[in-house]
Amino acid sequence: MKNLLSLRSVLIFGGAGFVGSNWASRLLNSTSARVHVFDNLSRRGVEQNLSWLRQHAVAPERLKITVGDIRDAALVAEAVAGASEIYHFAAQVAVTSSLSDPRHDFQVNALGTLNILEAARNSRRQPFILFTSTNKVYGNLRQRQLVLTGRRYCALDEKGVSESEPLDLYSPYGCSKGTADQYVHDYSRIFALPTVVFRMSCIAGPRQFGNEDQGWVAHFVHSALQSKPLTIYGNGRQVRDVLSIDDLMSAFERVRERMEKTAGQIYNVGGGTANSASLVEVIDQIEKITGKKIRFRLERPRLGDQLFYVTDYHKLQKHTGWKPKRNLRQTIQSIYEWAKQEARAAGSLAVRPLTPALLERIPEAAS
Ligand SMILES: NC(=O)c1ccc[n+]([C@@H]2O[C@H](COP(=O)([O-])OP(=O)(O)OC[C@H]3O[C@@H](n4cnc5c(N)ncnc54)[C@H](O)[C@@H]3O)[C@@H](O)[C@H]2O)c1
Repeated sequence: MKNLLSLRSVLIFGGAGFVGSNWASRLLNSTSARVHVFDNLSRRGVEQNLSWLRQHAVAPERLKITVGDIRDAALVAEAVAGASEIYHFAAQVAVTSSLSDPRHDFQVNALGTLNILEAARNSRRQPFILFTSTNKVYGNLRQRQLVLTGRRYCALDEKGVSESEPLDLYSPYGCSKGTADQYVHDYSRIFALPTVVFRMSCIAGPRQFGNEDQGWVAHFVHSALQSKPLTIYGNGRQVRDVLSIDDLMSAFERVRERMEKTAGQIYNVGGGTANSASLVEVIDQIEKITGKKIRFRLERPRLGDQLFYVTDYHKLQKHTGWKPKRNLRQTIQSIYEWAKQEARAAGSLAVRPLTPALLERIPEAAS
């Protein structure tokens, strides 16, 4: 009989969200891991991701769902006790909300993360922990020399941002994520937990309920499909690199497989120069793909917004061989296909949102 402890037992905090539900689906469909999704469903729309997971996973019997909050240390400890791997995606994700309620932002992002780390430190399993931090920990990067050429800013040194960039925590969200980022990193040095930190730029793909505050590429595609005008903060020439969710999940796999090299490391993860574009360039691409004209108006830039952020992912590539495979056009296309499917499904109710009655039918959901 296979030793139960040798089975992968994967706990995903924030597992109903965009990154979490895609990762849960990948694990259920292409590995034999048991998957425990832990999420308080606070992000609007994510209950649809849980319905989708239940309905489309190849092995739903390996899926357990806990509707819970990472601020609840006892519930977190209970979930962590059985896990051999932990992916921590649960977060207050928007800079804007962090400005209106910094205390809530801190309690979820900083204290919630400490709850997970403490539970892992007290677990006998020494679980692998991957934490998704953000490029916002590098601040607004205003010291970079930029020129405005045509429809985008360009960096004079043509370099992306590497892990040697000094931390410059900016905005309550930047501070709370940066705090969590440093705690996760330090628990590997001080308590020898095998932790990895990903500092991510924009991730995009299906199952992302993007809005003005977070998930902008998906938000732009949804707005195009619904013929809703957009608001752009700044002149629209600010540049971001975009990474497809499929490439991000390949990066998760690579770092776990090469844990002897990656444990204790911090990696910048993003699409890199080849997948960088300004907001107006992304709008151009969406218009081509969807055939819809996007209307937008310009507003004053938002506090702390970076004019130019492109990831230098060479450290991760050097340690694991990983590099992005999907280009920006393919990523936008994948969101477009999913959004069309969702629109059709909403018409036929093929994917039903999780109502309280449906939740009761998920045995583990009440745990
Ligand atoms: N998507 C991106 O472009 C991006 C970029 C950089 C960093 N990140 C980070 O990656 C992670 C995942 O992002 P995402 O895009 O999947 O976001 P998401 O909002 O889709 O997923 C986050 C999930 O966490 C859950 N959650 C929020 N507060 C919680 C709490 N207190 N307890 C339990 N669950 C809670 C939400 O309900 C949601 O399902 C986040 O930590 C985010 O900061 C994302």
